Amino acid sequence: MSRHYLMCAPVHFDVTEKSNPWMRPDHVVDRERALSQWHTLVEVYERLGHRVSLLDPVPGLPDMVFTANGAVVVGGRAFVARFRSATRRPESAAHQRWLESTGGYDVAMSEGIGEGEGDFLFTGRHVLAGTGFRTDHATHLEAQEFLGYPVISLRLADECFYHLDTALLPLDADTIAYYPGAFSAGSRRLLERLYPDALLATAEDAGHFGLNAISDGHHVVLPSDSTRFADHLRDRGYEPIPVDLSEFRASGGGPKCCTLELRPAAE
Ligand code: ARG
Repeated sequence: MSRHYLMCAPVHFDVTEKSNPWMRPDHVVDRERALSQWHTLVEVYERLGHRVSLLDPVPGLPDMVFTANGAVVVGGRAFVARFRSATRRPESAAHQRWLESTGGYDVAMSEGIGEGEGDFLFTGRHVLAGTGFRTDHATHLEAQEFLGYPVISLRLADECFYHLDTALLPLDADTIAYYPGAFSAGSRRLLERLYPDALLATAEDAGHFGLNAISDGHHVVLPSDSTRFADHLRDRGYEPIPVDLSEFRASGGGPKCCTLELRPAAE
């Protein structure tokens, strides 16, 4: 099934602070390289038959390329982020404006801190939600009230996997992949109960950002250095599509971070 994604060109991409362990403010960003890697990701989606819409980049917002964090959009309802870091806070207004001006979405701003699809992942049946480093636990209830889907809270326990989308990947309506080491003991038990057949990623897979991927139910667009994880996906019948987004790793980002899925209201 064709998907609709919102993306933002990394015209002003930079690494200016260290709000996750991967960020290297000393790294000199190669913007040409970042732009070309990002363009390839757009082309990959279009080749797969998905639609890509673009958010205008705003000068002074170095993380805007990571559109996944701007909102979570399910059933035509868009729950817009409130960021933890002051640097990223103005991104919310850009997302809100875009979602309102396109029409077709009911838009609400998060009252509490909530970082969009970084921490809220829709599986088709419910929303799996991360807390521990970025999104506040209380915001999970706010999201549930607004989206009208059960929101299941998961506690992240390793700061290298600071957003849920670095540790867990919904593959289709029935299956997810995740790295157990990123979660608290209780959340691991919960995931085992909900998804006994989940594809378990290793520390190495997760360290290559293999879970920071996008699945359309068959194709899985993932970082090109996650070769072993790609093999596991192939064994399960998925088609891995590797993309090189290495320039974004110095900011703690990967393909999923650059992609916000827009899910319309059911017709
Ligand atoms: N530098 C960004 C931050 O720390 C990276 C965001 C990555 N996005 C994601 N969906 N995990 O906020």
